[in-house]
Amino acid sequence: MRLKDIQNIFHKELDPVYGKEEVNSFFFMLTEAFFGLERFALALDPEYVITKEQETPLFAALSELKLEKPIQHILGKAHFFGLEFCVNEHTLIPRPETEELVQWILDTVKSDLTTENLRILDIGTGSGCIPIALKKNLPNAIISAIDISVEALKMAKKNAEINEVEVQFIQADVLNVESLNLDQENTELFDIIVSNPPYVRNLEKEMMRKNVLEFEPNSALFVEDNNPLIFYDTIANLAKTNLRPNGSLFFEINQYLGKEMVDLLQEKKFQNIKLKKDIFGVDRMTKCVF
Ligand SMILES: C[S@@+](CC[C@H](N)C(=O)[O-])C[C@H]1O[C@@H](n2cnc3c(N)ncnc32)[C@H](O)[C@@H]1O
Repeated sequence: MRLKDIQNIFHKELDPVYGKEEVNSFFFMLTEAFFGLERFALALDPEYVITKEQETPLFAALSELKLEKPIQHILGKAHFFGLEFCVNEHTLIPRPETEELVQWILDTVKSDLTTENLRILDIGTGSGCIPIALKKNLPNAIISAIDISVEALKMAKKNAEINEVEVQFIQADVLNVESLNLDQENTELFDIIVSNPPYVRNLEKEMMRKNVLEFEPNSALFVEDNNPLIFYDTIANLAKTNLRPNGSLFFEINQYLGKEMVDLLQEKKFQNIKLKKDIFGVDRMTKCVF
């Protein structure tokens, strides 16, 4: 069958759900992953034909896309900060907003902090995207990362291997640890603590798409409506005893709770509190110093 005809089937079946542009993007991602085709290959050769055998994974992907399974889960991988990460149903798919948080940390390190042997901790690491991207860019840093999910940590370890970096991964429930003195032999304080914890309130569920609600881990996303800042409150307290003087605390936050976040950090006596918008123009991250 001509690849172009399959592309037309994709458009017919999927455009009503995703729109033409996104379907084009899915189609190219799939043909690149399955057949190694470049984006412009079909434009150069509109008569390009694939075998019956080659059709099978494409049509399987079409069925999954119809169910709104994320393309990253279909391909088993996602891109973050120029690196490739394996993802599955246990890990949040890394988001572009989080890339901005990583960039903010790197900019801060370059301007404010000495880059020699920085100690960094990521809380709620998921796929490991934050510590792995940081370690790639700060090879001398000593980076630890924790998550409650054993399955997510398996993926994070695999991603560290694929990207050839060393990160210490630890399984822990941040809501139930008294202190973050994680490394028994090395009780030094951290220069940076970063977290992108669960922050979506249940009341926001109705604004979310099926691909997120049904395929991404609920435990990575949601918090109770009556205590939406529970992770921030706990992590800020932990940061007070585990950051070195003048160490920095970075958070990715719920876009609707920017003011509440600043109030929380002020109450806890953090200094130089900054609230930053993301590329979409909404409050998305905070930085402060203790
Ligand atoms: C929003 S996801 C962030 C994942 C990743 N850091 C990223 O930016 O893509 C939150 C992560 O926190 C983890 N998590 C949830 N509750 C936790 C807890 N009590 N202690 C530690 N980690 C937790 C989840 O398993 C999930 O991987």
